[in-house]
Amino acid sequence: MTNHLLDHTADDTFLMCAPDHFEVSYVINPWMAGNIAHGNRSLAMQQWLALVEAIGQVAKIKMMPAMPGVPDLVFTANAGVVLGNKVVLSRFRHVERQAEEVYFEAAFTAHGFEVLTLPPELPFEGAGDALMDRSENLLWFGHGHRSDIACATRLSELLEIEVQPLKLVDARFYHLDTCFCPLAGGYVMYFPEAFDAVSQAHIAARVPADKRIIVDSEDALHFACNTVNSGSHIFLNQASDALVAQLQAHGFTVHQTALTEFLKAGGAAKCLTLKLNEPQQTVATRVS
Ligand code: ARG
Repeated sequence: MTNHLLDHTADDTFLMCAPDHFEVSYVINPWMAGNIAHGNRSLAMQQWLALVEAIGQVAKIKMMPAMPGVPDLVFTANAGVVLGNKVVLSRFRHVERQAEEVYFEAAFTAHGFEVLTLPPELPFEGAGDALMDRSENLLWFGHGHRSDIACATRLSELLEIEVQPLKLVDARFYHLDTCFCPLAGGYVMYFPEAFDAVSQAHIAARVPADKRIIVDSEDALHFACNTVNSGSHIFLNQASDALVAQLQAHGFTVHQTALTEFLKAGGAAKCLTLKLNEPQQTVATRVS
């Protein structure tokens, strides 16, 4: 079954940052443990360039400058959450990443965004934890590890949008974008066990069964949910034949591009990008 809601290409723009200074030099998530100084930067660069090349076939990419001393700056998903011409800037939970904030702010200003901030005491990690639904005017918001639950109300006020909080309960899936991905056409691809029971029920209540694409633990551990979606195209590190078939059945074309060097830091395709065009959804189109 193909889905006629999906455009082939969607004229999207993604923000990325080259891994010139990427390495694992501290441990702030379980993926990084044991990986300090175990990276191969030239392989990381090759993998990142292959992702740029793949996404570049269907979407525009804007680059922000790489900077020394902030090895996780490559993960531009964590810069902030964008809606229209506004962005709510991240405030990182861990001191190791806080120096990135000024660089992300400069990139947003350079691209003409109105930069908004949350109260200083509230950690918030941008589009790592705050993901726009693709058919409703709704922001899905992950908390429990990095972003503070109190951000939900603030985000709702600042961006004038409904926010649905989801509680993350597995340390390996420490950002929402590691286990949950809204897709074009109102689909949602996710790994249910990364959420508490109440949050699983919220997802099921909002997204009809035929729009839920359930990912198993093996695919989830390969960061299959950490997907870049543009129109009908999906870019991810690795997916099983069964998951590829499921996505194809819904009209998506899956591009697998190995990002093993970035998994050592706890990130993959989606983490390495930030979608800069996030128009407000005007009509609810998630009809089954
Ligand atoms: N090492 C980074 C961290 O722990 C990885 C961030 C991955 N980004 C993401 N959007 N999930 O913060």
